[in-house]
Amino acid sequence: MSDVDGLLTHLPEDPYPLYDVLRNKGRVLWLDGAQRWLVTGHEEALAVLRHPRMSSDRTRWDGYRPAPGYDRSAGMFTMDPPGHTRLRGLVQRAFTARVVEGLRPRIQQLVTEFLDAAEKRGEIDLIADFAGPLPAIVLAELLGIPSEGQLRYRRWATTMMGAIDPVSHATSSEQAAAGQRADDELTAYLGEIIALRRRDPRPDLISALLAAEESGQRLTGIELLEMCILLTVAGLETSVNLIGNGVGALLAHPAQLARLRDEPELLNSAIEELLRYDAPIQLSGRVPTEDIEIDGQTLRKGQMVGVVLGAANRDERAFTDPHELDLGRSPNNHVAFGRGIHFCLGAPLARIEGATAIGELVRRFPGLRPAGKPQRRTNPHVRGFTSLPVALR
Ligand code: HEM
Repeated sequence: MSDVDGLLTHLPEDPYPLYDVLRNKGRVLWLDGAQRWLVTGHEEALAVLRHPRMSSDRTRWDGYRPAPGYDRSAGMFTMDPPGHTRLRGLVQRAFTARVVEGLRPRIQQLVTEFLDAAEKRGEIDLIADFAGPLPAIVLAELLGIPSEGQLRYRRWATTMMGAIDPVSHATSSEQAAAGQRADDELTAYLGEIIALRRRDPRPDLISALLAAEESGQRLTGIELLEMCILLTVAGLETSVNLIGNGVGALLAHPAQLARLRDEPELLNSAIEELLRYDAPIQLSGRVPTEDIEIDGQTLRKGQMVGVVLGAANRDERAFTDPHELDLGRSPNNHVAFGRGIHFCLGAPLARIEGATAIGELVRRFPGLRPAGKPQRRTNPHVRGFTSLPVALR
Protein backbone atom coordinates (compact mmCIF):
# COMPACT_ATOMS: atom_id res chain seq x y z
CA MET A 1 0.00 0.00 0.00
CA SER A 2 3.03 2.28 -0.04
CA ASP A 3 1.96 3.90 -3.33
CA VAL A 4 -1.38 4.63 -1.81
CA ASP A 5 0.00 6.14 1.40
CA GLY A 6 2.31 8.13 -0.85
CA LEU A 7 -0.73 9.50 -2.64
CA LEU A 8 -1.70 11.31 0.53
CA THR A 9 1.65 13.00 0.97
CA HIS A 10 3.01 13.43 -2.52
CA LEU A 11 0.77 13.44 -5.57
CA PRO A 12 2.51 11.56 -8.43
CA GLU A 13 2.98 13.24 -11.79
CA ASP A 14 0.09 11.14 -13.11
CA PRO A 15 -2.14 10.01 -10.22
CA TYR A 16 -4.95 8.66 -12.43
CA PRO A 17 -3.72 5.04 -12.87
CA LEU A 18 -3.36 4.78 -9.10
CA TYR A 19 -6.88 6.16 -8.61
CA ASP A 20 -8.15 3.37 -10.90
CA VAL A 21 -6.31 0.74 -8.86
CA LEU A 22 -7.86 2.14 -5.69
CA ARG A 23 -11.37 2.32 -7.15
CA ASN A 24 -11.07 -1.31 -8.28
CA LYS A 25 -10.16 -2.34 -4.73
CA GLY A 26 -13.13 -0.46 -3.32
CA ARG A 27 -15.01 2.68 -4.20
CA VAL A 28 -15.03 3.47 -0.48
CA LEU A 29 -11.78 2.07 0.89
CA TRP A 30 -10.27 2.04 4.39
CA LEU A 31 -6.51 2.54 4.39
CA ASP A 32 -4.96 0.80 7.38
CA GLY A 33 -1.63 2.58 7.05
CA ALA A 34 -3.06 6.07 6.75
CA GLN A 35 -6.08 5.34 9.00
CA ARG A 36 -8.40 7.15 6.61
CA TRP A 37 -11.17 6.34 4.18
CA LEU A 38 -10.65 7.19 0.54
CA VAL A 39 -13.71 7.63 -1.66
CA THR A 40 -12.89 7.28 -5.35
CA GLY A 41 -16.29 6.46 -6.90
CA HIS A 42 -18.40 9.26 -8.40
CA GLU A 43 -21.74 8.24 -6.91
CA GLU A 44 -20.08 7.61 -3.56
CA ALA A 45 -18.32 10.99 -3.62
CA LEU A 46 -21.67 12.68 -4.26
CA ALA A 47 -23.21 10.71 -1.39
CA VAL A 48 -20.50 11.93 1.01
CA LEU A 49 -20.54 15.55 -0.16
CA ARG A 50 -24.33 15.77 0.05
CA HIS A 51 -24.76 13.93 3.34
CA PRO A 52 -26.13 16.15 6.13
CA ARG A 53 -24.14 14.22 8.77
CA MET A 54 -20.80 14.58 7.00
CA SER A 55 -19.04 17.46 8.69
CA SER A 56 -16.54 19.85 7.14
CA ASP A 57 -15.23 20.65 10.62
CA ARG A 58 -12.03 18.66 10.81
CA THR A 59 -11.72 19.17 14.57
CA ARG A 60 -14.44 16.49 14.77
CA TRP A 61 -11.92 13.97 13.48
CA ASP A 62 -10.76 11.59 16.25
CA GLY A 63 -7.19 11.93 15.01
CA TYR A 64 -7.35 15.72 14.88
CA ARG A 65 -4.41 17.57 16.27
CA PRO A 66 -3.53 21.11 15.35
CA ALA A 67 -0.80 21.01 12.68
CA PRO A 68 2.44 21.85 14.52
CA GLY A 69 3.29 25.19 12.94
CA TYR A 70 0.20 26.26 11.07
CA ASP A 71 -3.42 25.43 11.48
CA ARG A 72 -5.95 27.80 10.05
CA SER A 73 -9.65 27.65 10.60
CA ALA A 74 -10.99 28.48 7.16
CA GLY A 75 -14.23 30.15 8.21
CA MET A 76 -17.35 28.76 6.56
CA PHE A 77 -15.29 26.28 4.51
CA THR A 78 -14.71 24.27 7.70
CA MET A 79 -18.12 24.97 9.25
CA ASP A 80 -21.43 23.11 9.30
CA PRO A 81 -24.98 24.47 9.44
CA PRO A 82 -26.33 26.59 10.97
CA GLY A 83 -23.11 28.68 11.18
CA HIS A 84 -22.19 27.84 7.59
CA THR A 85 -25.66 28.72 6.30
CA ARG A 86 -25.54 32.16 7.90
CA LEU A 87 -22.07 33.05 6.58
CA ARG A 88 -22.77 31.72 3.09
CA GLY A 89 -26.01 33.74 2.96
CA LEU A 90 -24.14 36.90 3.93
CA VAL A 91 -21.29 36.49 1.45
CA GLN A 92 -23.76 35.71 -1.34
CA ARG A 93 -25.46 39.05 -0.72
CA ALA A 94 -22.19 40.79 -1.60
CA PHE A 95 -20.59 38.38 -4.09
CA THR A 96 -23.58 38.26 -6.43
CA ALA A 97 -23.93 36.95 -9.98
CA ARG A 98 -24.13 40.59 -11.08
CA VAL A 99 -20.82 41.46 -9.41
CA VAL A 100 -19.15 38.48 -11.08
CA GLU A 101 -20.64 39.24 -14.51
CA GLY A 102 -19.46 42.83 -14.10
CA LEU A 103 -15.85 41.58 -13.90
CA ARG A 104 -15.98 40.13 -17.41
CA PRO A 105 -14.75 43.23 -19.34
CA ARG A 106 -11.84 43.77 -16.93
CA ILE A 107 -10.84 40.10 -17.15
CA GLN A 108 -10.93 40.37 -20.95
CA GLN A 109 -8.79 43.50 -20.80
CA LEU A 110 -6.22 41.88 -18.48
CA VAL A 111 -6.03 38.77 -20.67
CA THR A 112 -5.44 40.95 -23.73
CA GLU A 113 -2.67 42.87 -21.96
CA PHE A 114 -0.92 39.71 -20.75
CA LEU A 115 -1.16 38.08 -24.17
CA ASP A 116 0.07 41.25 -25.95
CA ALA A 117 3.18 41.15 -23.73
CA ALA A 118 3.54 37.40 -24.28
CA GLU A 119 3.27 37.78 -28.07
CA LYS A 120 6.26 40.13 -28.11
CA ARG A 121 8.35 37.52 -26.27
CA GLY A 122 7.26 34.53 -28.35
CA GLU A 123 7.87 32.13 -25.46
CA ILE A 124 6.55 32.34 -21.91
CA ASP A 125 6.16 30.35 -18.76
CA LEU A 126 2.39 29.99 -18.79
CA ILE A 127 2.22 29.91 -14.97
CA ALA A 128 4.62 32.74 -14.08
CA ASP A 129 3.65 35.01 -16.95
CA PHE A 130 -0.08 34.45 -17.38
CA ALA A 131 -2.06 31.89 -15.34
CA GLY A 132 -0.43 32.94 -12.04
CA PRO A 133 -0.81 36.72 -12.04
CA LEU A 134 -4.19 36.94 -13.82
CA PRO A 135 -6.49 35.52 -11.08
CA ALA A 136 -4.43 37.30 -8.41
CA ILE A 137 -5.08 40.69 -9.99
CA VAL A 138 -8.76 39.86 -10.56
CA LEU A 139 -9.27 38.77 -6.96
CA ALA A 140 -7.23 41.64 -5.50
CA GLU A 141 -9.20 44.19 -7.54
CA LEU A 142 -12.48 42.51 -6.65
CA LEU A 143 -11.70 42.69 -2.94
CA GLY A 144 -10.33 46.23 -3.23
CA ILE A 145 -6.62 45.64 -2.61
CA PRO A 146 -4.58 48.54 -3.98
CA SER A 147 -2.22 47.76 -6.85
CA GLU A 148 0.93 48.34 -4.78
CA GLY A 149 -0.11 45.54 -2.40
CA GLN A 150 -1.05 42.99 -5.05
CA LEU A 151 2.32 41.29 -5.49
CA ARG A 152 2.67 40.66 -1.76
CA TYR A 153 -0.96 39.56 -1.68
CA ARG A 154 -0.30 36.84 -4.21
CA ARG A 155 2.90 35.68 -2.49
CA TRP A 156 1.14 35.34 0.86
CA ALA A 157 -1.76 33.43 -0.71
CA THR A 158 0.53 30.98 -2.54
CA THR A 159 2.58 30.29 0.59
CA MET A 160 -0.53 29.70 2.69
CA MET A 161 -2.07 27.41 0.10
CA GLY A 162 1.16 25.36 0.07
CA ALA A 163 0.87 24.85 3.83
CA ILE A 164 -2.83 24.03 4.10
CA ASP A 165 -3.30 20.30 4.13
CA PRO A 166 -6.31 19.21 6.17
CA VAL A 167 -6.77 15.58 5.08
CA SER A 168 -3.28 14.16 4.74
CA HIS A 169 -1.27 16.30 7.22
CA ALA A 170 1.85 16.04 5.08
CA THR A 171 3.02 19.64 5.41
CA SER A 172 6.66 19.97 6.48
CA SER A 173 7.49 22.12 9.49
CA GLU A 174 9.26 24.64 7.21
CA GLN A 175 6.15 24.92 5.02
CA ALA A 176 3.98 25.25 8.11
CA ALA A 177 6.15 28.00 9.59
CA ALA A 178 6.18 29.88 6.28
CA GLY A 179 2.39 29.44 6.05
CA GLN A 180 1.91 30.91 9.51
CA ARG A 181 4.17 33.90 8.73
CA ALA A 182 2.32 34.59 5.47
CA ASP A 183 -1.00 34.25 7.27
CA ASP A 184 0.04 36.74 10.00
CA GLU A 185 1.20 39.25 7.40
CA LEU A 186 -1.87 38.87 5.19
CA THR A 187 -4.16 39.14 8.23
CA ALA A 188 -2.49 42.36 9.37
CA TYR A 189 -2.60 43.79 5.86
CA LEU A 190 -6.28 42.93 5.26
CA GLY A 191 -7.09 44.33 8.72
CA GLU A 192 -5.70 47.70 7.62
CA ILE A 193 -7.73 47.68 4.41
CA ILE A 194 -10.92 46.70 6.23
CA ALA A 195 -10.41 49.57 8.68
CA LEU A 196 -9.97 51.98 5.75
CA ARG A 197 -13.13 50.73 4.01
CA ARG A 198 -15.12 50.92 7.22
CA ARG A 199 -14.42 54.66 7.30
CA ASP A 200 -14.56 55.22 3.58
CA PRO A 201 -16.54 52.59 1.55
CA ARG A 202 -15.61 52.03 -2.10
CA PRO A 203 -17.23 49.98 -4.87
CA ASP A 204 -15.38 46.81 -3.87
CA LEU A 205 -16.20 43.46 -2.26
CA ILE A 206 -14.74 44.33 1.16
CA SER A 207 -17.06 47.36 1.36
CA ALA A 208 -19.99 45.24 0.15
CA LEU A 209 -19.21 42.55 2.75
CA LEU A 210 -19.09 45.25 5.44
CA ALA A 211 -22.57 46.38 4.37
CA ALA A 212 -24.05 42.90 3.80
CA GLU A 213 -26.90 42.16 6.09
CA GLU A 214 -29.29 39.26 6.34
CA SER A 215 -32.16 38.94 8.83
CA GLY A 216 -30.76 41.94 10.67
CA GLN A 217 -27.33 40.30 11.04
CA ARG A 218 -23.94 41.33 9.74
CA LEU A 219 -20.49 39.77 9.63
CA THR A 220 -18.41 40.42 12.73
CA GLY A 221 -14.92 41.90 12.27
CA ILE A 222 -13.25 38.47 12.65
CA GLU A 223 -15.76 36.82 10.29
CA LEU A 224 -15.12 39.44 7.64
CA LEU A 225 -11.36 38.96 7.92
CA GLU A 226 -11.72 35.17 7.73
CA MET A 227 -14.01 35.51 4.71
CA CYS A 228 -11.45 37.63 2.84
CA ILE A 229 -8.74 35.10 3.66
CA LEU A 230 -10.97 32.21 2.59
CA LEU A 231 -11.75 33.91 -0.73
CA THR A 232 -8.03 34.49 -1.22
CA VAL A 233 -6.92 30.99 -0.40
CA ALA A 234 -9.81 29.21 -2.13
CA GLY A 235 -9.92 31.45 -5.18
CA LEU A 236 -6.34 31.96 -6.19
CA GLU A 237 -4.32 28.81 -6.79
CA THR A 238 -7.47 27.05 -7.97
CA SER A 239 -8.06 29.41 -10.89
CA VAL A 240 -4.32 29.44 -11.66
CA ASN A 241 -4.47 25.66 -11.92
CA LEU A 242 -7.63 25.59 -14.03
CA ILE A 243 -5.77 27.65 -16.63
CA GLY A 244 -2.47 25.76 -16.17
CA ASN A 245 -3.89 22.22 -16.07
CA GLY A 246 -6.31 23.10 -18.86
CA VAL A 247 -3.58 24.32 -21.20
CA GLY A 248 -1.36 21.39 -20.14
CA ALA A 249 -4.12 18.94 -21.12
CA LEU A 250 -4.71 20.68 -24.46
CA LEU A 251 -0.99 20.59 -25.29
CA ALA A 252 -0.96 16.87 -24.55
CA HIS A 253 -3.95 16.39 -26.91
CA PRO A 254 -3.18 18.36 -30.09
CA ALA A 255 -6.30 17.07 -31.89
CA GLN A 256 -8.53 18.48 -29.15
CA LEU A 257 -6.56 21.75 -29.18
CA ALA A 258 -7.16 22.00 -32.94
CA ARG A 259 -10.83 21.15 -32.40
CA LEU A 260 -11.24 24.04 -29.96
CA ARG A 261 -9.53 26.38 -32.41
CA ASP A 262 -11.84 25.29 -35.23
CA GLU A 263 -15.01 25.22 -33.09
CA PRO A 264 -14.76 28.13 -30.64
CA GLU A 265 -18.42 27.60 -29.71
CA LEU A 266 -17.16 24.57 -27.76
CA LEU A 267 -15.39 26.85 -25.27
CA ASN A 268 -17.78 26.52 -22.32
CA SER A 269 -18.10 22.77 -22.63
CA ALA A 270 -14.29 22.60 -23.07
CA ILE A 271 -13.78 24.37 -19.74
CA GLU A 272 -16.05 21.85 -17.98
CA GLU A 273 -14.17 18.97 -19.57
CA LEU A 274 -10.78 20.42 -18.62
CA LEU A 275 -12.04 20.78 -15.04
CA ARG A 276 -13.12 17.14 -15.08
CA TYR A 277 -10.03 15.82 -16.80
CA ASP A 278 -7.47 17.36 -14.45
CA ALA A 279 -9.21 18.94 -11.47
CA PRO A 280 -7.37 21.73 -9.62
CA ILE A 281 -8.64 20.38 -6.27
CA GLN A 282 -8.01 16.64 -6.14
CA LEU A 283 -8.83 15.86 -2.54
CA SER A 284 -11.39 17.15 -0.09
CA GLY A 285 -12.33 15.88 3.36
CA ARG A 286 -15.30 15.17 5.64
CA VAL A 287 -15.82 13.66 9.09
CA PRO A 288 -19.00 11.66 9.86
CA THR A 289 -20.83 12.94 12.93
CA GLU A 290 -22.58 9.55 13.24
CA ASP A 291 -21.93 6.13 11.70
CA ILE A 292 -22.89 6.30 8.00
CA GLU A 293 -23.10 3.46 5.52
CA ILE A 294 -21.99 4.09 1.96
CA ASP A 295 -21.38 1.38 -0.65
CA GLY A 296 -21.69 -1.31 2.02
CA GLN A 297 -18.99 0.24 4.25
CA THR A 298 -19.65 1.77 7.63
CA LEU A 299 -17.89 5.10 7.97
CA ARG A 300 -17.65 5.57 11.70
CA LYS A 301 -18.28 8.75 13.60
CA GLY A 302 -15.02 10.69 13.96
CA GLN A 303 -13.08 8.99 11.13
CA MET A 304 -11.44 11.01 8.35
CA VAL A 305 -12.99 10.56 4.91
CA GLY A 306 -10.90 11.74 1.96
CA VAL A 307 -13.06 12.44 -1.08
CA VAL A 308 -10.83 12.10 -4.14
CA LEU A 309 -12.55 14.47 -6.56
CA GLY A 310 -9.93 13.76 -9.22
CA ALA A 311 -10.73 10.04 -9.04
CA ALA A 312 -14.52 10.52 -9.03
CA ASN A 313 -14.09 12.57 -12.22
CA ARG A 314 -12.51 9.54 -13.94
CA ASP A 315 -15.06 6.96 -12.80
CA GLU A 316 -16.19 4.85 -15.75
CA ARG A 317 -19.62 4.38 -14.17
CA ALA A 318 -20.22 8.13 -14.49
CA PHE A 319 -18.28 9.01 -17.66
CA THR A 320 -17.91 7.16 -20.97
CA ASP A 321 -14.20 6.67 -21.75
CA PRO A 322 -13.24 8.60 -18.61
CA HIS A 323 -9.55 8.88 -19.53
CA GLU A 324 -10.33 10.48 -22.90
CA LEU A 325 -10.30 14.26 -23.18
CA ASP A 326 -13.47 15.11 -25.13
CA LEU A 327 -14.13 18.85 -25.25
CA GLY A 328 -17.68 18.26 -26.46
CA ARG A 329 -18.54 15.84 -23.61
CA SER A 330 -22.19 15.97 -22.67
CA PRO A 331 -23.49 15.34 -20.09
CA ASN A 332 -20.55 16.17 -17.84
CA ASN A 333 -21.50 15.83 -14.21
CA HIS A 334 -17.98 16.42 -12.84
CA VAL A 335 -17.28 17.21 -9.19
CA ALA A 336 -14.33 19.58 -9.67
CA PHE A 337 -16.27 22.30 -7.81
CA GLY A 338 -17.50 19.88 -5.13
CA ARG A 339 -21.21 19.39 -4.45
CA GLY A 340 -23.79 20.04 -1.78
CA ILE A 341 -23.82 23.00 0.58
CA HIS A 342 -20.09 23.74 0.15
CA PHE A 343 -20.30 23.81 -3.66
CA CYS A 344 -17.65 26.28 -4.83
CA LEU A 345 -18.81 29.82 -4.23
CA GLY A 346 -16.40 31.11 -6.87
CA ALA A 347 -17.39 28.72 -9.68
CA PRO A 348 -18.98 31.44 -11.88
CA LEU A 349 -15.86 33.61 -11.55
CA ALA A 350 -13.51 30.68 -12.18
CA ARG A 351 -15.48 29.74 -15.30
CA ILE A 352 -15.21 33.28 -16.72
CA GLU A 353 -11.49 33.45 -15.94
CA GLY A 354 -10.83 30.02 -17.41
CA ALA A 355 -12.89 30.58 -20.56
CA THR A 356 -11.44 34.03 -21.24
CA ALA A 357 -7.83 33.00 -20.62
CA ILE A 358 -7.88 29.68 -22.47
CA GLY A 359 -10.22 30.88 -25.23
CA GLU A 360 -8.07 33.89 -26.10
CA LEU A 361 -4.80 31.97 -25.87
CA VAL A 362 -6.06 29.33 -28.30
CA ARG A 363 -7.66 31.88 -30.64
CA ARG A 364 -4.65 34.15 -30.86
CA PHE A 365 -1.86 31.60 -31.07
CA PRO A 366 -2.43 28.79 -33.60
CA GLY A 367 1.24 27.82 -33.11
CA LEU A 368 0.79 27.22 -29.36
CA ARG A 369 3.04 24.32 -28.30
CA PRO A 370 5.20 23.05 -25.42
CA ALA A 371 8.63 24.70 -25.11
CA GLY A 372 10.34 22.75 -22.32
CA LYS A 373 9.76 20.39 -19.46
CA PRO A 374 6.83 21.36 -17.25
CA GLN A 375 7.12 21.07 -13.46
CA ARG A 376 4.25 19.79 -11.35
CA ARG A 377 3.53 20.61 -7.72
CA THR A 378 3.12 17.53 -5.51
CA ASN A 379 0.61 18.79 -2.93
CA PRO A 380 -2.05 16.05 -2.62
CA HIS A 381 -4.92 18.54 -2.46
CA VAL A 382 -3.99 21.09 -5.07
CA ARG A 383 -2.92 19.83 -8.48
CA GLY A 384 -1.15 22.16 -10.82
CA PHE A 385 2.08 23.15 -12.54
CA THR A 386 4.73 25.32 -10.97
CA SER A 387 6.14 25.89 -14.44
CA LEU A 388 4.73 25.28 -17.93
CA PRO A 389 6.93 26.69 -20.72
CA VAL A 390 5.07 27.33 -23.98
CA ALA A 391 5.95 28.74 -27.39
CA LEU A 392 3.34 30.94 -29.03
CA ARG A 393 4.55 31.14 -32.62
C1 HEM B 1 -11.23 26.44 -11.05
C2 HEM B 1 -11.21 27.07 -9.93
C3 HEM B 1 -11.81 26.53 -8.66
C4 HEM B 1 -11.98 25.23 -8.25
C5 HEM B 1 -11.62 23.95 -9.00
C6 HEM B 1 -12.60 25.28 -6.95
C7 HEM B 1 -12.95 24.16 -6.21
C8 HEM B 1 -13.67 24.18 -5.04
C9 HEM B 1 -14.15 23.02 -4.34
C10 HEM B 1 -13.91 21.57 -4.78
C11 HEM B 1 -14.82 23.44 -3.25
C12 HEM B 1 -15.56 22.56 -2.24
C13 HEM B 1 -14.63 21.94 -1.24
C14 HEM B 1 -15.35 21.06 -0.25
O1 HEM B 1 -16.57 20.83 -0.35
O2 HEM B 1 -14.68 20.55 0.66
C15 HEM B 1 -14.76 24.89 -3.24
C16 HEM B 1 -15.31 25.69 -2.27
C17 HEM B 1 -15.13 27.05 -2.23
N1 HEM B 1 -14.58 27.85 -3.22
FE1 HEM B 1 -13.79 27.23 -4.94
N2 HEM B 1 -12.76 26.58 -6.60
C18 HEM B 1 -12.32 27.39 -7.61
C19 HEM B 1 -12.33 28.76 -7.66
C20 HEM B 1 -12.79 29.56 -6.66
C21 HEM B 1 -12.80 31.01 -6.69
C22 HEM B 1 -12.32 31.86 -7.87
C23 HEM B 1 -13.29 31.43 -5.49
C24 HEM B 1 -13.52 32.81 -4.95
C25 HEM B 1 -13.20 33.93 -5.49
C26 HEM B 1 -13.62 30.24 -4.72
C27 HEM B 1 -14.16 30.26 -3.45
C28 HEM B 1 -14.62 29.15 -2.78
C29 HEM B 1 -15.21 29.20 -1.47
C30 HEM B 1 -15.45 30.46 -0.63
C31 HEM B 1 -15.54 27.90 -1.12
C32 HEM B 1 -16.18 27.41 0.18
C33 HEM B 1 -17.67 27.37 0.01
C34 HEM B 1 -18.38 26.88 1.25
O3 HEM B 1 -17.74 26.38 2.19
O4 HEM B 1 -19.62 27.03 1.29
N3 HEM B 1 -13.31 29.14 -5.46
N4 HEM B 1 -14.06 25.31 -4.35
